[in-house]
Amino acid sequence: MSKSATLNVDGKSFEFEVITGSENEKCIDIQKLRSETGYITLDPGFGNTGSCFSSITYVDGAKGILQYRGYPIEDLAEKSTFVETAYLILYGELPKAEQLRDFSARLKEHAPLNTNLEHHFSGLPNNAPPMAILSAMLNLVSCFHPEVLEVPTTGAEFDRTASLLLSKVRTIAAFAYRMACGKPINHPNPNLTYCGNFLHMMFSDPYQEYEVSPIIDKALNLFLILHADHEQNCSTTTVRVVGSSRANLFSSVSAGVCALWGPLHGGANSAVIAMLEDIKDSGRPLTYYLDKAKDKNDSFRLMGFGHRVYKNFDPRSIILKKQVHSVLEALNINDNLLKIALELEEATLNDDYFVSRNLYPNVDFYSGLLLRAIGIPLNMYTVMFAIGRMPGWIANWKELHDHKLRISRPRQIYTGETARPYVSIAKR
Ligand code: SDX
Repeated sequence: MSKSATLNVDGKSFEFEVITGSENEKCIDIQKLRSETGYITLDPGFGNTGSCFSSITYVDGAKGILQYRGYPIEDLAEKSTFVETAYLILYGELPKAEQLRDFSARLKEHAPLNTNLEHHFSGLPNNAPPMAILSAMLNLVSCFHPEVLEVPTTGAEFDRTASLLLSKVRTIAAFAYRMACGKPINHPNPNLTYCGNFLHMMFSDPYQEYEVSPIIDKALNLFLILHADHEQNCSTTTVRVVGSSRANLFSSVSAGVCALWGPLHGGANSAVIAMLEDIKDSGRPLTYYLDKAKDKNDSFRLMGFGHRVYKNFDPRSIILKKQVHSVLEALNINDNLLKIALELEEATLNDDYFVSRNLYPNVDFYSGLLLRAIGIPLNMYTVMFAIGRMPGWIANWKELHDHKLRISRPRQIYTGETARPYVSIAKR
């Protein structure tokens, strides 16, 4: 394997080092490209550009492999819990019993919101988008906890800040939902698990405590585990870019929430359900939707299909597809959208447009059906993705500071007007 790459340009030859990662992926280190050659590279969407070294998550898009800190997603989905996986992603190792106990205790301790922060919910319109509330409230938390404005990335300070964020994101999400429904908020119950407490805050009523079923608790843990991190995706890159200016953790993840909101990213899970509902209600054949997705003059895309990295099945969609079947069966729910989803997947597998472009179901294609089975309302689906992704965002923000921090500032190729004199308004 080459140790360096040669660039021949303007009659000169330049050598750049080849760096190989622990899973044998290779890159050409072009950190000195501009200073040595005067050239920059161009890569809109950064599909060919590595922005950092990272030891958190590894994805092999060709083989459909996803590992958090070396542990295959299939093992974690089957054997772990979201809290344990969050610890792994944050600290690099699966926790020992005492470490897990301390981590869980911190999450319980930090679940409540400052009552003055609670009042902000009541000023919002009932139809306020939950992702807007989540992003705003995450920033507002730092107004009540000014200590998190510091940038601790190690020790007890980081442990506290990370736990505070991981715990409060769940409380903010539940409070946003309750306010949107015009229902009284449920304060966190320290006797419940991370997921159980969220379900309690979402669905308990003054006269009826929500009873957490083990099936739903496990399904929610699995959903959050599968969303916990995913290399340098759009929202994680956003967290890193914002954090690179030394912005605090809360403002960095608040920006990550905004990036995740987009329908090409985390907003796809609810867009998939809207698409399946439309297919169900419209009575149109699947070919109508497949043709729309292929039509370059139509902005419609088959939501939940395709991925920048996976050119094989997204391993998360395989796990979710199985989980949806078992949860619906266990809860004796007959969701006719699942039948449509299976037919749509089958249709794409037999359509050259999708096969030739490696457009397979991604994490969002089946995740919405699982959230439906759990009873999460549609407008909260992307919020659930954000709760799941929080450990990944925090770990990437921490890793950014653990390495030599450089502010993110890409270059550009200018294509505008060349220099020209000012023209007075009388002469325009
Ligand atoms: C997530 O990056 C991550 O890791 C993200 C994520 C994570 O965990 O963080 O995995 C979570 O965001 C999953 C993706 C959710 N989004 C969707 O399901 C929205 C629908 N999918 C797409 O819009 C698209 O596939 C993307 C955004 C996911 C990927 O876009 P790319 O890599 O920029 O691909 P592209 O637009 O260059 O597409 C290549 C070709 C194009 O056709 P041609 O120009 O070759 O003719 O495939 C076509 C595209 O038009 N295409 C689709 C399509 N996705 C790509 N055509 C129809 N339907 C689609 N869904």
